[in-house]
Amino acid sequence: MKYEIAVIPGDGIGPEVIDAALAVLKECETRYELEFKYVFHDFSADLYRRTGIKITASDMDEIGKSDAVLFGAMGLPDVRGPDGLELGAQVEMRAHYGLFASLRPVRLFSGVESPVKAKDIDMLVIRETSEGMFAGLADKHEPSNESASDRMTITRATCEKLFEVAFSQARTRRKRGTPGHVTLLHKSNALRSNVLMEKVFDEVAARNDDIGSAKFYIDAGSMYMVTDPGRYDVVVSENIFGDIVSEIAAGLVGGLGLAPSADVSLAHGVFQPSHGSAPDIAGQGIANPTAMILSAAMMLEWLGERHGDDVCIKAAKSIQSAVETALKKGPRARDLGGTAGTQEVADAVISALSA
Ligand code: NAI
Repeated sequence: MKYEIAVIPGDGIGPEVIDAALAVLKECETRYELEFKYVFHDFSADLYRRTGIKITASDMDEIGKSDAVLFGAMGLPDVRGPDGLELGAQVEMRAHYGLFASLRPVRLFSGVESPVKAKDIDMLVIRETSEGMFAGLADKHEPSNESASDRMTITRATCEKLFEVAFSQARTRRKRGTPGHVTLLHKSNALRSNVLMEKVFDEVAARNDDIGSAKFYIDAGSMYMVTDPGRYDVVVSENIFGDIVSEIAAGLVGGLGLAPSADVSLAHGVFQPSHGSAPDIAGQGIANPTAMILSAAMMLEWLGERHGDDVCIKAAKSIQSAVETALKKGPRARDLGGTAGTQEVADAVISALSA
């Protein structure tokens, strides 16, 4: 089948890892009956700095007509709007398309060392991405030099969708041998919004009682993430807690260079690595492209499931196993203690694909 993919490379290492992922997808087109038409969009914090141009609602309507969006990374710490916040189309797209769930799988691959003792780390962190404290961005209350606040909003409707996704993901993962379990990380002892979230979680868990469930306060749950990560299968949390916890989880399995993500609603999907634009290493050709390549594989899986396209699903699986092979055999990227650059890592994945 032919798919139209909107590509937004963005800032810093975004364009570098996008190039690597597109090279891997090109190899998939050669090997499978797949065809991609790419439509590039050059929105970035850097473009805003140079021209004042930023993504608009009508740009997002146009981008949203494509089958999926591949997104590199966006944002530069010194490029900010009049409100003092950084420019980042990823946050606007989440609101515009109602992308309520960011799926962030984390797996300790053979050949990669974890900073903790655990051996089998294989979890899916699901971060809610449309509410929580990010929903307060549209607040009318103006901050002053003396006071500023961010409101945490949680709704029943989004919680229901989010938790149904979590239980359904646990069911899908169970087919490949994971326990089939969902853990909610929350703070209902202190936040009213989280009392509602916990209540809805209990209701959804009761409807999905073929899947086990647990709940921890975010503070203890974060500690378990480091001391006993094997206890987690699917982990779900609200926006800001999920943001933090997903990066702790990424740190357990080799860091952000290996952490992909899929921001999805029922109709749209934006696929991007969990990392940002990494200005500290941008332009040197040393970023690890694995997270972006695995995000492209998640895009193929999502397209395959939406369109009943088994070829796409097969291609996704072959990218995932090529990444596994490349991580086992090397060459190793610098964030994993090796010396390989972005291109070399992508080439290793491509040659494992064609082996
Ligand atoms: P970051 O994720 O860009 O970098 C954190 C650390 O991880 C840095 O030391 C970086 O060198 C390293 N790193 C990240 N990706 C890597 C890769 N693929 N290979 C090797 N090392 C990698 O987070 P930071 O520095 O906090 O933010 C930089 C900019 O990115 C900011 O402007 C931030 O707002 C933006 N950002 C954008 C995101 C997005 O586009 N979705 C997500 C997170 C941050």
